Amino acid sequence: MSEELKSSYPHNTAYPKSSKPFPDFVEKKLQACEEETFKPRKNGKPLVLGNKLPGYGSIILQSNDYLNVSKHPDIVLAQISMLENAGRELVMSAVFLHEGSDKSVFEKSMADFTGFESSVLCQSGWAANVGLMQIIADKDTPVYIDFFTHMSLWEGIKTAGAPPYPFRHNDVGHMERLIKKHGPGIVLVDSLYSTIGDIAPLEDIVAVAEQYGCVSVIDESHSLGVYGDEGAGLINELGLTDKVHFITASLAKAFAGRAGIIICSEQFAHYYPYLAFPAIFSSALLPHEIAGLQATLKVIREGDDRRAVLHEHAQFLREGLDTLGYNIASQSQIVAIESGLESDTEVFRDALEAKDVFGSVFLTPATPKNRSLMRFSLHSGLEREELEYVLKVCEEIRDEVNMWEWKSTKRKKG
Ligand SMILES: Cc1ncc(COP(=O)(O)O)c(C=O)c1O
Repeated sequence: MSEELKSSYPHNTAYPKSSKPFPDFVEKKLQACEEETFKPRKNGKPLVLGNKLPGYGSIILQSNDYLNVSKHPDIVLAQISMLENAGRELVMSAVFLHEGSDKSVFEKSMADFTGFESSVLCQSGWAANVGLMQIIADKDTPVYIDFFTHMSLWEGIKTAGAPPYPFRHNDVGHMERLIKKHGPGIVLVDSLYSTIGDIAPLEDIVAVAEQYGCVSVIDESHSLGVYGDEGAGLINELGLTDKVHFITASLAKAFAGRAGIIICSEQFAHYYPYLAFPAIFSSALLPHEIAGLQATLKVIREGDDRRAVLHEHAQFLREGLDTLGYNIASQSQIVAIESGLESDTEVFRDALEAKDVFGSVFLTPATPKNRSLMRFSLHSGLEREELEYVLKVCEEIRDEVNMWEWKSTKRKKG
């Protein structure tokens, strides 16, 4: 290439890239992250990143694709066909989409699936929760939120400028005392908690919310597809469908897509696109993504066998770990082991990885400080022998990782 041509290509990657220094106030933030997140670790990486990538034969317990559907041929084909046939919809904000669009057809299917009047497809579970809270809360709306509820709902409270009243995890009595003191508002819980895998006392929560005239929002990200009739979720399984106002969910879990949903009344869905900033100021999903989700819904509804295997696997692993002395709070396919101190979690992760078992590390801000944990997410594609191997490894490394001295182990013994 001539020098003249080169000089006309300022963005040519062969040339030095721009790296303009930041002023101090940005630099300090990045340096703080370096000090707190990277430097304390032996491998110089954040704790969530181990030393090696899983290889052939590794056991990977990290995916939220609980029903193992992401490579299902019907779902892949639906996406490819839509890509090849150039979908009807344009790339734009959902606010411009009319009734009868592929998006609205999917929303109707999700409403039928869960037994609600309507639903709103969002770009992510995060967008769904923030958009919903932005609409229904304001500075005069008390919001009662379980301490462990997902960060996106906390962020929604902030966006709405509403006062949060957090209650102790799964403590309905505490929630009721706060409601009595501060008056009717919004109750926010996850049905199944994504860090430790326990299930909310939904019947009691919904009863108290109803009794005091509160709006109830249940995040079913980890239970939709996995529990209930044809996978319609825990609210469905418990017969609470007509007692809650909103179900929200990430469709990046059992639906293995990249989207979120608000399941709601027809009235709410009608106004949502004109009120929620994520709907107005951020583009809608692409046609092939919606086609994939529509095909996934069918696979999920027909997935009783997958659900049965998943629940069997989960019970087997939970019981096995419990017998080995690990303190397991899980009641679901999310099985977490609380190693507590980050230094202990690092040792635990390394010991598992050395034997080719890969889970996900969770630490603050996803957990309270010094309550970091190793999360095993199960899926229906695993073999029983693989879980037996995980148990064997967890048995062998108990002394090496100092398991008997962890606070969580002592709580179990105590
Ligand atoms: C309970 C819960 N709600 C919401 C979200 C956000 O979903 P998404 O990843 O689709 O933004 C997640 C994802 O981590 C989640 O676990």
